[in-house]
Amino acid sequence: MSIQWNEKNREFHLRNSFLSYIISLLPDGSVGLAHFGPPLSPDRSYPRLLRTESRAWSFRGDGQPDDFGLDFARREYPTPFRGDFRVPALTASDVRGAPLALDLRYAGHLVRPGKPALRELPATYVEDAAEAETLTVYLRSADCALEVDLHYTIFRDLPILARRATIRNAGSARVFLDRALSASVDFDDPDWDLVQFSGAWARERHVRRRRLGPGLQSVSSVRGHSGHEHNPAVALARPGTSEESGEVYGFALVYSGNFVAGAELSSHGETRVSIGINPENFRWSLDPGAGFETPETALSYSRSGFSALSDAYHRLFSKRLARGPWRDRERPVLLNNWEGTYFDFNEERLLGMARSAKDLGVELFVLDDGWFGERNDDTSSLGDWDSNPQKLPEGISGLARKIEAMGLKFGLWIEPEMVNPRSRLFAAHPDWAIGPMNGARTLCRNQYVLDLSRGEVVDHLYSVLSRLLRSAPVSYVKWDMNRSITEPVSSALSPERQGEFFHRYILGLYELYGRLTADFPEVLFESCSGGGGRFDPGLLAFAPQAWTSDDSDAIERLGIQWGSSFFYPASSMGAHVSASPNHQVGRAVPLGTRASVAFFGAFGYELDPDALSGADRAAIKEQISFFKEWRTVFQFGSFLRLRGPEDGDGNEVSWMSVSGDQSRAVVLFARVLARPNPPFGRLRLRGLDPERTYRVSARPSVPVPGEASARLNDGSRGGDELMSVGLLLGGDGWAGIPRGDFASWIFTLEAVT
Ligand code: DGJ
Repeated sequence: MSIQWNEKNREFHLRNSFLSYIISLLPDGSVGLAHFGPPLSPDRSYPRLLRTESRAWSFRGDGQPDDFGLDFARREYPTPFRGDFRVPALTASDVRGAPLALDLRYAGHLVRPGKPALRELPATYVEDAAEAETLTVYLRSADCALEVDLHYTIFRDLPILARRATIRNAGSARVFLDRALSASVDFDDPDWDLVQFSGAWARERHVRRRRLGPGLQSVSSVRGHSGHEHNPAVALARPGTSEESGEVYGFALVYSGNFVAGAELSSHGETRVSIGINPENFRWSLDPGAGFETPETALSYSRSGFSALSDAYHRLFSKRLARGPWRDRERPVLLNNWEGTYFDFNEERLLGMARSAKDLGVELFVLDDGWFGERNDDTSSLGDWDSNPQKLPEGISGLARKIEAMGLKFGLWIEPEMVNPRSRLFAAHPDWAIGPMNGARTLCRNQYVLDLSRGEVVDHLYSVLSRLLRSAPVSYVKWDMNRSITEPVSSALSPERQGEFFHRYILGLYELYGRLTADFPEVLFESCSGGGGRFDPGLLAFAPQAWTSDDSDAIERLGIQWGSSFFYPASSMGAHVSASPNHQVGRAVPLGTRASVAFFGAFGYELDPDALSGADRAAIKEQISFFKEWRTVFQFGSFLRLRGPEDGDGNEVSWMSVSGDQSRAVVLFARVLARPNPPFGRLRLRGLDPERTYRVSARPSVPVPGEASARLNDGSRGGDELMSVGLLLGGDGWAGIPRGDFASWIFTLEAVT
């Protein structure tokens, strides 16, 4: 890893063994991107990589050199109004509302070891300064007081380049930032697919891939949270790129609020990728001397397909974004009472469930919504975080102690950002809810959102929640957020600062999360927003796992977890076995398949264990003990996608996880619908050591009659054979796989040589 400055050619070369990122000074003194891609020799310079021929009607100001125009230059942090008509990274205006034609030029730089932390925002980090190097490029303007610093960190052991900007007002008059993105990256050709992870509540983060066409294509959120609809992480891939081959770039924003991520294909075939805070409803007032920091974006490059790109993000997010003792720990097998009881429980019922759960091998009992105030449905009490004595006579602390006495850990659901009008908190502080005090405020799920842009609201929540966590042995917190933000007005902000509201809300959220996670490092936090409505890199810095989706149906989860795995590691995905028929889609899936899919995540159950049949209890006991044996591989192995919902007719989904030393692996193969008399097939595995021999054992989703066929794939096989020939996929009841829909198979592989 190195960052070199070539004074003569006015060029920075950031390089590690995976990628090169070459920044050149353009003829007008601004900074441009000469190359982002495979590593290039550090001994040469690359002046020719900057495309400079002009095109007719591409804007070039009189007097500018023939071979340079802002309209087609590859610019690192583009500003508008001077001849670049593509999407800008930064726009600003003065107090009269007049746009500023910012002419930002290179004015110096600094290279330092390590990676400095951000002031107010979460970011990736290093534990040792030797793990990364950081370049800061100073941009200054002769006719404007705005100063911009561009920060680039290159990691030594990862194909990752982290980018962000800080902006300062060095003048004597107020300036408004109307757009301040985290990064803009210009590519000089049009042949790309934009890969996004989109959906809706209960079907989050499905892979959507489309060929770039002329103009702007983007995904975004204006909901105040990153949202179920689109994820703030996208990829730009060559049209032929597959899991194992081809070029692909990743862009992941470490942020949990309104975002935009997209690509613009210009008339002359250049592609500009932009990512950052959504400029919609954003206007930041910078007083003289004040500064603004953008969120960080983590860029990556792979020339060997999507799997390598995902591996880079899995390593980054699980080891250098997540933090705290839980980062490296196996996650406890939990039982969450939500789908088992909803709001209908009392202490006796919970203790009964906990006792049964303990008997099954569960390690953590989680009490979900409905334990506080007078909450028996979703119409009241958010904001009043005292336990309901009718349901819990000895409070949370009494219940938690009884559960701990059974040998289980205790976890608790909260939704701190919300308030019901029917609550003591709202009666005392109606102005703490977001929205105009005397105007209409839209209720959703009977609740308002608390104004976390206000320091006193954050302080209040901190004191209530820290008291709660001190009062009882709580080992896990599920932090929910069940509505989007409307009427984005803060009664505490002056009129000219209302455009700051959405970002200030997220800063308040991060402050609250930061204080609580710092004070309670032993508590495992799981983020949630109606399932996966805030499953983003920003929150992973505080909560190492998130509730992936409210949809716990194993067949739906195949697509959800498949898509999520492009950026997010298995350890970050809450995955539970729920009752059948499933509560979200009404589908009846074999218990074995429900577990097979959930194994690849922060595993648990979400059902009433007292309602289980004897056979299901026995099966679950066996599932949990199997999971514990393989938990490290499921949660922390290298995750590889083998066959996905978008392959063929999408009827078969398969993925696997391999331990770091390649001595153990687990493989999921799921078949959605049974097909009569299917063709022959093989499942080629990946990531194994070709020199080693592995013992293969199969676990069908339901017991299979016919021992001989059930053992068809069992036995010792070379890693080379498993990867180049593969496992046998048979016909009806193949290899003993159960007949019927929604069947699955887990294969375990252990190296014997
Ligand atoms: C939405 C969450 O995603 C569910 O798991 C559950 O916690 C409910 N909220 C409770 O209100």
